[in-house]
Amino acid sequence: MTIDTAPLFQPLKLGNIVMANRMAMAPMTRQRAYLDGTPTAVVVEHYRQRASAGLIITEGIAPSQMGLAYLFAPGLWTDRHEAGWKMVADAVHEEGGHIFGQIMHSGRLTDELQLNGEQPFGPSAVQPDPTARHYTINCPRAKRVYQRPREMTHEEILGEIDAFRDCAVRAQRAGLDGVEIHAASGYLPMQFLSTNTNLREDEWGGTVEKRAAFLLACVDAMIDATSKEFVAVKFSPGWQFHNVFDDDPQATYSYATKELSKRGIAYLQLGNYGMDWDVYGTLRPLFDGPVGYVAGFTRSTGAKAIAEGGADFICYGQNYISNPDLAERYKNGWGLNKLDADTYYTQGEEGYTDYPFYADSNPDDLVDVDQPPTPIKVYAD
Ligand SMILES: Cc1cc2nc3c(=O)[nH]c(=O)nc-3n(C[C@H](O)[C@H](O)[C@H](O)COP(=O)(O)O)c2cc1C
Repeated sequence: MTIDTAPLFQPLKLGNIVMANRMAMAPMTRQRAYLDGTPTAVVVEHYRQRASAGLIITEGIAPSQMGLAYLFAPGLWTDRHEAGWKMVADAVHEEGGHIFGQIMHSGRLTDELQLNGEQPFGPSAVQPDPTARHYTINCPRAKRVYQRPREMTHEEILGEIDAFRDCAVRAQRAGLDGVEIHAASGYLPMQFLSTNTNLREDEWGGTVEKRAAFLLACVDAMIDATSKEFVAVKFSPGWQFHNVFDDDPQATYSYATKELSKRGIAYLQLGNYGMDWDVYGTLRPLFDGPVGYVAGFTRSTGAKAIAEGGADFICYGQNYISNPDLAERYKNGWGLNKLDADTYYTQGEEGYTDYPFYADSNPDDLVDVDQPPTPIKVYAD
């Protein structure tokens, strides 16, 4: 069967940049930073290698200490962090690529061991299900049951909104092309959006409008400090990863998507993580701007989603871990490197910067160019 891959290789205007192709590298936490959250040289090299993606979206970057859940995960709230991210941005730009930083606040998912003994906080004092751990047991989070968080005060909520804003300003100074708020996967903005994690009765909880207020306040503060072209958002509507539930995800995300659309942000990244309702068909029409689809796409399904007029670009996750030159491979129909999930969260170069480019690979080691990625699970086996 001949596959028309041309839709993947058209340019796309997005915020302040023009993507050279419709392939984005999806944000992926890989824990190769220094313990203080500053990107290491190997992080710079990892992103440099992948600069032929139309857009790189970085791993989740914490905007404050309270938002940092994982050992060796990066942050962006100090001058040293900013200098590190500048090295990453410069490297990607030197190679002709573009890069958005994903701002990820873990809220209730962190641990006092990460917080110098402080109790984690979230919208409400709701402890995550003890089994709702990260989907690989290899993840360097404290290997113990999630703690019960304490409820954030109004002032603390305002403080974390300021942290998102300051992080966007630092990202701009570091030379990143934009920032994406991680409002998916059960992290803080999704904890506010979701009915089981947000039991508040003040202006930050209750109705859909109030549950969306934290996210929208972050978006507005970040736009105010940078520009609407600089800010983007990721949603995983209805996904129960990290033990978040929503009584009515269609209603919640329809409202939030329409509000984001009004603000004219750079793009919306939308994930359908195995929902039994039509996430893309429901939400895509509500957003007047570029939308990137994510989760489970291959070369051919990605090209098809664009050709059918739904997606403007496709975010590829795991296939970008194992193929630094994924765009060239998809364009030329070359086989893919095999993926090693055991090295997702290990330290150093292994499984990170040592996947070969096509020219250096052994043809016998390659798998089919249309190989789908491993399905992402809510719970580890
Ligand atoms: C190792 C790993 C780390 C991830 N970390 C993040 C993250 O930091 N932020 C995020 O939004 N999604 C994260 N994801 C989800 C990916 O962005 C993507 O949505 C998911 O892998 C599905 O795409 P795929 O089927 O192409 O792999 C991660 C996925 C993997 C495999």
